[in-house]
Amino acid sequence: MSIESGAELQRDQAGRLRHLLTLEGLTRDELQHLLDLAQFYVRVPGELPARDQSLWGRTVANLFFEPSTRTRVSFELAAKRLGADVVNLDMQSSSRVKGETVLDTIYTLQAMLVDVFVMRDAEPGLPAYVSAHVAPHVSVLNAGEAHLSHPTQGLLDVLTIRQRKGEVRNLSVAIVGDIRHSRVARSTSRALLTLGVGELRLVSPASLAPEPGELEGARRHHSLAEGVAGADVVMALRIQRERMADADTVDPETFYREWGVTAENLRGARPDAIVMHPGPMNRGVEITSEVADGAQSAIRQQVTNGVAVRMAVLATIVRNVQERNVEAGRRAG
Ligand code: CP
Repeated sequence: MSIESGAELQRDQAGRLRHLLTLEGLTRDELQHLLDLAQFYVRVPGELPARDQSLWGRTVANLFFEPSTRTRVSFELAAKRLGADVVNLDMQSSSRVKGETVLDTIYTLQAMLVDVFVMRDAEPGLPAYVSAHVAPHVSVLNAGEAHLSHPTQGLLDVLTIRQRKGEVRNLSVAIVGDIRHSRVARSTSRALLTLGVGELRLVSPASLAPEPGELEGARRHHSLAEGVAGADVVMALRIQRERMADADTVDPETFYREWGVTAENLRGARPDAIVMHPGPMNRGVEITSEVADGAQSAIRQQVTNGVAVRMAVLATIVRNVQERNVEAGRRAG
């Protein structure tokens, strides 16, 4: 199943977002609406978290069949802070390890009145496949799909850039490292391109560049110095060893020497440039501790924004489904 089919499947008949499978196909206005609502929910460490009852009575199931710290916990916190009940199913405790199909797992949880499935899986197309099989009042949110898509990460990255640097159309953003295997690079790039980013640079060795024809509108660089020169934002990516064939594996020491985001390499970027990383970080491979923990780092702010973005997405999707249910009720009655 292609990303494009996910873009079509995620809308109801009236064009409202019913699922969030990909940022492909979302308009600039839709992205701005989600970012503005997320900004409304942002609270900084030390403040009490934002709370409301947008999801009161709803049940959210987190289905993570790949490891996660940030995304899984922030979806759980987001749902609870909006008043939902939350269940978490991980790969070790799921009956999928005993051979149950993913649809049988979904139908089982749907029979327990789950309203929203948050899914992470290594299989391309799975969120779209599941979304085509759930009941009309049920939504699927993609929390990381193979190397293809991580829409809420794309949103939280853009929110962080907007907070620190202002409108993206004035900015030069460099994404550095293993772009070929990165769902984060794809979703963040898509959001930036839709919002009219000034310049998007994909900076990587040729072996880790995206496929030809992908992410049109971005400029590819195969030199770190050239790629970060004058950039307002430098985003480092983790090497996705789990998605590489043995022949493609990268030696961490060589990678660090040639592609690591270090204080020295950052000197070519603007002096007020920010540094980002989606996490989990491999310190001393794609980024140094000096940079990750330094004054230019926005990495913890990305994590804080993750909860706000997931609250905005949950609140928007559930409201859209409610509207659809009211209209369907009117038509039936
Ligand atoms: N950025 C991200 O997806 O992190 P986790 O794998 O910890 O969820």
